[in-house]
Amino acid sequence: MKKYGIESLSFYTSRYYLDLIELAVARGIDPDKYTTGLGQHLMAVVPPDEDVVTLAANSAKSALAGIDPNEISMMLVATESGIDQSKALGIWVHNLLGLSPQCRVVELKQACYAGCAGLQLGLSYISQNPHKKVLVIATDIARYGLHTPGEPTQGCGAASFVLSANPKLVTFEPEQGIFTSHVMDFWRPNYSDTAFVDGKFSTKIYLEALEQCWKSYQEQSGRKFEDHYRFCYHLPFIRMAQKAHERLARLNGKETTPDAVENSFIYSRQLGNSYTASLFIGLASLLENTQEDLSQKRVGFFSYGSGCVAEFFSGIIQPGYKEHLKTDYHRAMLESRTRTGMADYESFFTHKLPQDGSHYVISPYNTGLYRLSGIKNHERLYETKP
Ligand code: HMG
Repeated sequence: MKKYGIESLSFYTSRYYLDLIELAVARGIDPDKYTTGLGQHLMAVVPPDEDVVTLAANSAKSALAGIDPNEISMMLVATESGIDQSKALGIWVHNLLGLSPQCRVVELKQACYAGCAGLQLGLSYISQNPHKKVLVIATDIARYGLHTPGEPTQGCGAASFVLSANPKLVTFEPEQGIFTSHVMDFWRPNYSDTAFVDGKFSTKIYLEALEQCWKSYQEQSGRKFEDHYRFCYHLPFIRMAQKAHERLARLNGKETTPDAVENSFIYSRQLGNSYTASLFIGLASLLENTQEDLSQKRVGFFSYGSGCVAEFFSGIIQPGYKEHLKTDYHRAMLESRTRTGMADYESFFTHKLPQDGSHYVISPYNTGLYRLSGIKNHERLYETKP
């Protein structure tokens, strides 16, 4: 049987972070609430010259290493931090990466679920067009606002993966347990640059959606909880995924072991919520931080996007996958970040681009290869560093 799946996977996050202990102290909160109660340690913060386009382009550049860019015939970009109501942010990324003019580019939206939608739509396309490749990018900046309960669950990141009929990392199984329901747990109207969220309600709906998705997936596949060797969950904060895993185990009358999920948390604990990207950063974290050979093992995936759409699906890790991981690059990227203090974090957070069409130049901060250099006549300007 023909196999389709992920040939290459990489992620990128901003070059700055805030230690959540420092945030807790500044907000007069017991630091244990953030580190133990939420399970988070560091939070990626974006400087003025980094946005969802630069995050996306930097992650895609790494995912495309060794792949002929002309082979990419479709790019699907998932985001809920879009920069334009009409033009897909992927077109800026397409330009920065020098992809083929014959590559179709579209933006997808459904909160954090859109990355999963990109995966499934891309797989359907590849099954019809097995000689082609699809680049899926999930890119987001999680913003709740200063002094809000959601503040310690902010973060940013982009994950990029190439789907093809030569899946060197993971193939996916056909059963998909889907759950859609109109709920107002988290949303962001066009006039707001921070999310509105009913935090406690959102955690309740996440768990309910998981149960519904699991039941549907299980009916279709006949698989049991124990048929899945590892699990990757959407990661708004680590404790949420731990609770989800405990709930799923309980539902199936099983005990949980930290091994089943812990390695998928390592990267997100250091960068926070990356919305659409978090599930795939979790997958990179699992593959790159597990010593044991996971070849032929089944992984269960749960994607949740507020609003809400959720999905449970599964994949099989491919033999030889370790040779195709970008572990050193990802670890070096996380370890070489600059720690910001509260003053820089708040100044980055409140920075705004002019909205009157005036020409504004952004001085360089520490970024990857691509940066936002300014804005002129309402047009964002990007540059590739030499
Ligand atoms: P909160 O109300 O400030 O916190 O907000 P809390 O009172 O619920 O405490 C959090 C946990 O810390 C609790 O643990 C406390 O007991 C514990 P739990 O009881 O839940 O297990 N705690 C402590 N632990 C140790 N030492 C202490 C201490 N004090 C308390 N001293 C909340 C928390 C998550 C609600 C807030 O941060 C928030 O609103 N975040 C944003 C929403 C969110 O992340 N929701 C997740 C589900 S929805 C989702 O995943 C979709 C999303 O990614 C968006 C999308 O789809 O686009 C968000």
